[in-house]
Amino acid sequence: MITVFDSIADDLAEHGYAVADQFLSQSEVNAILALDEFRNGLAEFKKAGIGKQQDRQINEAIRGDYIKWLDKNSAPAPAKLYLDRLSKLVEYLNQSLFLSLKDYEVHLTIYPAGSYYKRHLDQFKKDDHRKLSVICYLNNDWTEANGGQLRVFLPDGEKEFLPIAGRLICFRSDQIEHEVRPANRERLSLTGWILDQHADLRHL
Ligand code: OGA
Ligand code: MN
Repeated sequence: MITVFDSIADDLAEHGYAVADQFLSQSEVNAILALDEFRNGLAEFKKAGIGKQQDRQINEAIRGDYIKWLDKNSAPAPAKLYLDRLSKLVEYLNQSLFLSLKDYEVHLTIYPAGSYYKRHLDQFKKDDHRKLSVICYLNNDWTEANGGQLRVFLPDGEKEFLPIAGRLICFRSDQIEHEVRPANRERLSLTGWILDQHADLRHL
């Protein structure tokens, strides 16, 4: 993993984003897909909203995904494995880039077929503790024809990435605007943020 962490650190420093394929192995992805939460589908998930607390509104025209937050203390083993790997990444980034990242928060995410998330930044007006956005995709046999690309808007143009199983994409939450293109099949991921604050202080 160290070489993967190293290339993520380099690319973040240089470009503000990084892509790491096989961050999760095929069998690690399959174990996550086999969790009850994903097997039971949308019944276990909540419609995602926009903004925080009183500003929070559910706006179907902007985003169509469903989420379920992971609790570090009770996450099932295959999800815990991913969370522990993120902890290691946080430690590595702090050492190599001299950051003071403190924690992370992650939810399971389902975009039903046809849904999307319009162009946005991941920092809220009243909450700038999200420093890095980190998404790991869980979609086996995904092709260009399925759509669902993550499109990032960079100073030198746009780039698109397919949400293929095991691929991790990480980018600066305060700088990189991005969107999720509509897909013609259900699109699953682990979506998270690395914070400069402890996650358990966030909803007090
Ligand atoms: C988000 C988001 C991108 C993706 O949840 O804020 O932009 O590719 N997700 O799922
Ligand atoms: Mn986003």
